[in-house]
Amino acid sequence: MSNELYAVMGNPISHSKSPRIHSLFAGQTGEPVEYTAIQVPLDGFAAAVRRFFEAGGKGLNVTVPFKEQAWALAECRAARAEKAGAANTLYQNEAGQLVADNTDGQGLVRDLVDNHGVRLKDARVLVLGAGGAVRGVLGPLLEQQPVSLTLANRTVAKAGTLVKLFADEAGTTTLRACGFKEPDQPFDVIINGTSASLQGDLPPLGADVIAADTVVYDMMYSLQTTTFNQWALDNGAIRVFDGLGMLVEQAAESFRLWRGVLPETAPVIEALRNE
Ligand code: ATR
Repeated sequence: MSNELYAVMGNPISHSKSPRIHSLFAGQTGEPVEYTAIQVPLDGFAAAVRRFFEAGGKGLNVTVPFKEQAWALAECRAARAEKAGAANTLYQNEAGQLVADNTDGQGLVRDLVDNHGVRLKDARVLVLGAGGAVRGVLGPLLEQQPVSLTLANRTVAKAGTLVKLFADEAGTTTLRACGFKEPDQPFDVIINGTSASLQGDLPPLGADVIAADTVVYDMMYSLQTTTFNQWALDNGAIRVFDGLGMLVEQAAESFRLWRGVLPETAPVIEALRNE
């Protein structure tokens, strides 16, 4: 069978690990997937998507800065993408309509719960940040029914807007917004979804939020311990994880949407960790 074409679109894109991840998935599952990275000009996303599918492309991942445009462009959206306001996965349904989905939140939850054995149900969860990355994961996090989800952000009003937007999905979870300085009790799980570490910055949290059994998760990943995770370790955390597993898990869920086969993620995470 000849290969079917998939790609990730972004700008910049040269450092993307997605082609490597999907080629490992293809090898493992035997699915005829060829996956490339496409750098798209900032004003050319819609045209690039159209060309890709007209040329017979089967599915796209979308990354910075096009996730919101991908969402807007789609004719149908999965429920989890609708509220996220952003899409990382595009494909065409049988009627030829462009479908948008967002697998980031499921990727985060699977990495925490399945790979690291973290219990989110009934947990006190602190999420840092209120940008697109956090908006994309709030729905799946709330589905796990934490007892509370505190959203802390530099610009408190943006956290407040997200709390209002997701109020109807909170169920029994106490969902609230605050600034970084307010939380002064330990949490069970702390998730950093800010882009502060890109500038080598730290959200100015008090160390009281960390106890020895607090799980700390940085949605960023890097070869070295991330700035945020190092801060957490320095302040008594023992279990800290970066976002490499989330990256592989969101890719696996995209692969499942396209191919109907969910790849095994553990060997792929391990391979990437050692590269
Ligand atoms: P992304 O797609 O990564 O979420 P974004 O939508 O620009 O990007 O959101 C970035 C998030 O990181 C925001 O929550 C931002 O805080 P503000 O809403 O106050 O802007 C947060 N952030 C960025 N730089 C930060 C810094 N140096 N310290 C703390 N928070 C920061």
